Amino acid sequence: VPNKKGLIRRYGGKVVLGLVATGTGVFAYEVYNARHPPQQFEWDHSKKTIAILGSGWAAASMLKELDTAHYNVVVVSPRNYFLFTPLLPSTTVGTVELRSIMMPMRYITRFKKRAIAFVEGVCNEIDVQNKTLLVEDNSEIVGEVSKQSIPYDYLVVACGAENATFGIPGVTQFACFLKEAWDAKKIRTRLMDCMETAAFAGQTESEMERLLHMVVVGGGPTGVEYAAELYDFLQEDLASWYPELAPKIKITLVEALPHVLPSFSKELIDYTEKHFAEAKMKILSNTMVKEVKQKELVVQNPQKQIESIPYGLLVWATGNTARPVVAQLIKSLNPALQNQRRGLVVDDFLKVKGADDIWGLGDASATKWAPTAQVASKQGVYLANVFNTLGNIRADSRRILAEGQDPEVIAAQSVKPFDYEHLGALAYIGSDKAIADLPGNVHIGGALTFWFWRSAYLNNLFSLRNRVLVAFDWGKKSLFGRDISRE
Ligand code: FAD
Ligand code: NAI
Repeated sequence: VPNKKGLIRRYGGKVVLGLVATGTGVFAYEVYNARHPPQQFEWDHSKKTIAILGSGWAAASMLKELDTAHYNVVVVSPRNYFLFTPLLPSTTVGTVELRSIMMPMRYITRFKKRAIAFVEGVCNEIDVQNKTLLVEDNSEIVGEVSKQSIPYDYLVVACGAENATFGIPGVTQFACFLKEAWDAKKIRTRLMDCMETAAFAGQTESEMERLLHMVVVGGGPTGVEYAAELYDFLQEDLASWYPELAPKIKITLVEALPHVLPSFSKELIDYTEKHFAEAKMKILSNTMVKEVKQKELVVQNPQKQIESIPYGLLVWATGNTARPVVAQLIKSLNPALQNQRRGLVVDDFLKVKGADDIWGLGDASATKWAPTAQVASKQGVYLANVFNTLGNIRADSRRILAEGQDPEVIAAQSVKPFDYEHLGALAYIGSDKAIADLPGNVHIGGALTFWFWRSAYLNNLFSLRNRVLVAFDWGKKSLFGRDISRE
């Protein structure tokens, strides 16, 4: 019998070769499958129709899990793709390209058992009495028909939230948000515009200073992650290509509360603030924005005095508020049950209180959980499983009745309330450092956490295609740096 070393010498190469061949085979099979959608069942008028508003975390997770054998499904969203928001800040400076974190909804819908109707449009109104949706095509190209009414039996409201501005004058007009793909694109373009305008010959020193002042309002995770990406861009790329301007670039984060990242642990808040101070990114805490003008923002400082801060680029990240369609739905329901302005009040089964056959998921709902992708995706999977269970029981109702049982009673007993297990929160803070608040009171930060952050996000990306694209982008950035073209 050969010893251990002998065995490794004899079979080691073959095992490695076998593993590589299997990996390549699986990869090739997945790639082939992704490009060859199967035949699908047609729309079945004898079945109930589920309408889903949105193509974000909640909607996409629900669709992936839903068994369409039992239902017709129609999806309504103003964008025809899913967006992996955790990497959105990276796209504002080109660490990752936008299309790498987008996934067309048809890459999901075309793989379901039954054909799903996708309608690219905004739902402006939900008529709860007649169970219909009023949908409008709000894209640049509009055909002869641009409005339609869509009937539903069950409605899933998963249309997310919009940016809170608290009615502060000038925000919508002059600031950039960071929620959608087009926001990231706008920020990237404006940033490079500020650079080139500052480089324009004859610019005064004070104008240059203003143009190169990048201000972020809101010290939540969105604001912090954006500032972090901007800092990396400055250090790793702009410093080489704009050597005369780079030292003049300033990054300021304005936060109304005493500290940034209010939802993170005290240790990680301290760690982040220390890191920002070392990187010379200024945090103006206890500072409340009162007005935004075209070239300056008006703030109330900690001493309660009003002052003006000139800026070149302003990114607004002060959290969420309900979308108009959600606000309209809330208004049409019993105010005693729907008493939250930030979203729909739902019960333990995610059913909208006071409404029939309507469920509220993700940021569109007001729950005890933070409005995160983690919560939204778990809710989506939960609701798909509820529909799958009910579908299976109802499909089997003849047998159940023959056994002397009531299918509706069995259905009610089979559906359990939504239960959420928090897996922790991660955030990127710049210079290849990340922070992680994990269950069991584990708070870690630094370079190792950055690799954990990267692998967690790579793993959570929705498809093999997106994983490959993001990995390529990271590699491309390390090799060639980020692109500084102004699109
Ligand atoms: P969304 O994902 O926002 O999707 C809403 C969908 O509804 C979109 O497709 C939209 O086009 C569509 N829609 C809008 N209006 C209408 C309408 N009238 N009719 C029909 N459809 C409509 N969470 C984490 O857990 N981890 C993170 O790392 C993280 N990073 C983030 C980074 C950024 C920059 C941002 C902005 C958010 C981040 N979040 C993160 C939060 C997370 O993205 C949200 O909580 C999550 O997207 C909520 O999912 P949702 O499905 O409810 O809404
Ligand atoms: P947020 O609600 O988490 O933070 C907004 C911040 O803006 C708060 O700290 C608030 O005090 C501040 N603010 C409000 N009004 C202000 C004003 N007038 N002037 C100055 N500051 C003001 O919002 P954010 O960061 O957009 O996140 C939204 C949701 O998405 C959160 O639930 C968050 O957890 C989640 N998210 C998670 C990420 C992650 O886990 N890495 C990344 C980004 C978002």
